[in-house]
Amino acid sequence: MGTPPVTHDDIVRFADERVNLKRDDAKELREQANRLREKLENYLEEHPDFDLRKMLLSGSLAKGTALKSISDIDVGCYVSSESAPEKISDLVDWLAKKLRTAFPNFKPEQVKPKEYSVAVNFISTGNEVDIVPILYDGDPKWRGYLVSQDTGEKLMTSVPMHLEFIRKRKNANDKHFAQLVRLMKFWCKLQKAADDGFRFKSFMVELIVAHLADRGTPLGDYPRALAAIFAFLASDEFRTTIAFNDYYDPKTCKVTNDPMRIWDPVNCENNVAKLYTASNKDKIVQAALDAGDAVDSARRAITKGEAVRFWQKVFGSSFSA
Ligand SMILES: Nc1ncnc2c1ncn2[C@@H]1O[C@H](COP(=O)(O)OP(=O)(O)OP(=O)(O)O)[C@@H](O)[C@H]1O
Ligand SMILES: [Mg+2]
Repeated sequence: MGTPPVTHDDIVRFADERVNLKRDDAKELREQANRLREKLENYLEEHPDFDLRKMLLSGSLAKGTALKSISDIDVGCYVSSESAPEKISDLVDWLAKKLRTAFPNFKPEQVKPKEYSVAVNFISTGNEVDIVPILYDGDPKWRGYLVSQDTGEKLMTSVPMHLEFIRKRKNANDKHFAQLVRLMKFWCKLQKAADDGFRFKSFMVELIVAHLADRGTPLGDYPRALAAIFAFLASDEFRTTIAFNDYYDPKTCKVTNDPMRIWDPVNCENNVAKLYTASNKDKIVQAALDAGDAVDSARRAITKGEAVRFWQKVFGSSFSA
C-alpha cells in the first residue's frame, strides 16, 4: 500500500483540534479538584476523627484520557466504612452533610446529593465535581467498596491501582495509548448520539485497548492501530474474556456466561461489562464492523476527498484533513 491520502499526522491534528481536552483546561479542572482535596486535608488536621478519610481524583482527568467534551470532574472520597450508612441514598445524604461541614465556605446548595454521588458546584466557573463514595476500612493499597455510578452497587476495587494500571500502559506506549483511547471514546460518543441503545463504557474501552497493546498490537500509526482495534472488536465478538495479570492470576477469574466478560484489573470477580446484554454487544460489534470497513477503505483511497469521506463515517462530519 502506498501512502494513504489521510495520514497518521492528519489524525493527530484532528485529535488535537477536536477530540482532546486541551492541556490548560485539564490543568484548571485538576486544580479545582485538588483545592477540594486540600480543604479536606486541612479539615482533617484539626479533626483527625472525621469520617471522611481522603479525596482522590479519579476518572479520565486523572488518567489523562479526557475528551474536550468532558462534563464532570470525578473524585473518589474514602469514607470510614464503620460510620457510613448502609443504604446508598442515606450514604449519599450523609456524605453531602459531611462535605458541607468540611467545606464551610460553600453554600449548602452548592453541595447536592445525587443518585449515587454528591455534586459540588463551583459558582465562579460553573464546573461540577462529582464526589463518589468509597467505603474504606484501612487497606494499604486503598482497596475499598466503590459505589458504582451505573447501579449504586458496591464494588470491591481500587482507584489508585486502576491509575497505576493505566500509567503502566501509558509508559509502554507514550502518547499513543491515551490518544487511541480518546479517539475510540470519541467514536463511541458519536455512536451513542446516533443510537440510545449503544453503550460502551470508557473504562471498558481502556481495558480493550490495554488488552491489545499488551499483546503487541502496534499503536504508533493511528490509522493502522484503529483498523486493528475495530478488526478485533468485529471479529472477536467478545468471545475473548479480557483479564490482566497485574494484580491476580487470570486463571482464577470467576466463570460466568455473561455476554461480555471484561474483568476489573484489580478484582476478577468484578465484570465491568456485567450489565451489558447480547443486544448491547451486537451493537458494538456491528458498529466496529462498519468503522473497520470505513478505515480500511480510507487507507486504500486514492484521493484525499474520498479518504476524508470514509474517515467522516468513523469520526463524524467534523472530521477534516
Ligand atoms: N464497573 C467498575 N468497576 C470498577 N471500577 C470502575 C467501574 N466503573 C468505573 N470504575 C472506576 O471509575 C473510573 C472512571 O471510569 P468511567 O468509565 O466511568 O469514566 P472516565 O474514565 O472518567 O471516562 P469519561 O471521559 O467517559 O468520563 C475508572 O477508571 C475506574 O477506576
Ligand atoms: Mg468521567
